[in-house]
Amino acid sequence: MNQTCWKSPSNIAIIKYWGKYGRQLPKNASLSFTLSAAYSQTTLRYSPKAKGGIQLRFLFEGQEKPAFAQRIQGFLESILEELPFLDEYALELDSKNSFPHSAGIASSASSMSALALCLCDMAAELGLGPTSDQAEFWQKASYFARLGSGSACRSLYPMAASWGESKQLKGSSNLWASPCGELLHDDFKAVQDTILLVSRAEKSVSSTAGHKLMEGNPFAPLRYQLAEENLGKLLPALQAGDWATFGQIAEEEALMLHALMMTSRPSYLLMQPNSLALIEKVRDWRQQTKLPLYFTLDAGPNLHLLYPKSMQPKVQPFLQEELLPLCENGGHLADELGCGPEKL
Ligand code: PMV
Repeated sequence: MNQTCWKSPSNIAIIKYWGKYGRQLPKNASLSFTLSAAYSQTTLRYSPKAKGGIQLRFLFEGQEKPAFAQRIQGFLESILEELPFLDEYALELDSKNSFPHSAGIASSASSMSALALCLCDMAAELGLGPTSDQAEFWQKASYFARLGSGSACRSLYPMAASWGESKQLKGSSNLWASPCGELLHDDFKAVQDTILLVSRAEKSVSSTAGHKLMEGNPFAPLRYQLAEENLGKLLPALQAGDWATFGQIAEEEALMLHALMMTSRPSYLLMQPNSLALIEKVRDWRQQTKLPLYFTLDAGPNLHLLYPKSMQPKVQPFLQEELLPLCENGGHLADELGCGPEKL
């Protein structure tokens, strides 16, 4: 039996991907920071078998998980035409996350990117695809990660990545993400992301359903235009180390994402009272201290606090005294920008 094992991080979008078409293609370009402490680690074991369909055993932290297994099985079947050798091997996947499963943070970006890397590595080991020292390998892995979960395609690159066609991003594509970490001012390479866990509960509306609801959202066309405008303001801010512009865009994007949920038909809410209470506290603190502490949100109630590493000693007491009491059992995760996936 052969095996390959990859560790791949989660990412947090600054310009959000919300709305898709066709085969998981984005309606607008997005840009994210690649995280470090929040990651998935996936091992793929494979041994030859006769053809006749995907044969998969899926384990999560060593345990059978039928719901996950079904999703992965469907994903593998959907890419069988592109990776036909998958039919010739019995596959066993064993995956685990660095963060608790019920922490209230999405694991699809890290787990789908880790899985895509294992599949591309298997192809390389069989002599059927590029190896991980070639740029083409990463593009392919990003392509398959995208098919697993759109935002996962951005987890493949160090520090930051963009995904989606834009005149403002050279060589950009809807099919895969591209690295853009080299664009970051040194200040942004040391961004801290403290994730405040307002709730660990599973989301009431999945992101698949959320993307779908964008199709009937009356604000959708304006949203796609504003995403492109925000990208145009964000890129120079990231290069210049301009925290004020960066923070203003990060917060606007987060609140616009949630405003789109509230204005969907039917409407829904993923923020909770404590998400709003935290937002007000962060804004008041910023007003008083004049320090660059900003937030963003994913499709859920938890806040990501973004700030420069040098500010940690000042943020710490505020976090302990004012923010953590509003989190579920004081739950939070300390993260920062990272170097991208790693083969183990
Ligand atoms: O990758 P999906 O289909 O789970 O979509 C997630 C989209 C957001 O996380 C809300 C935003 C983003 O760009 O990551």
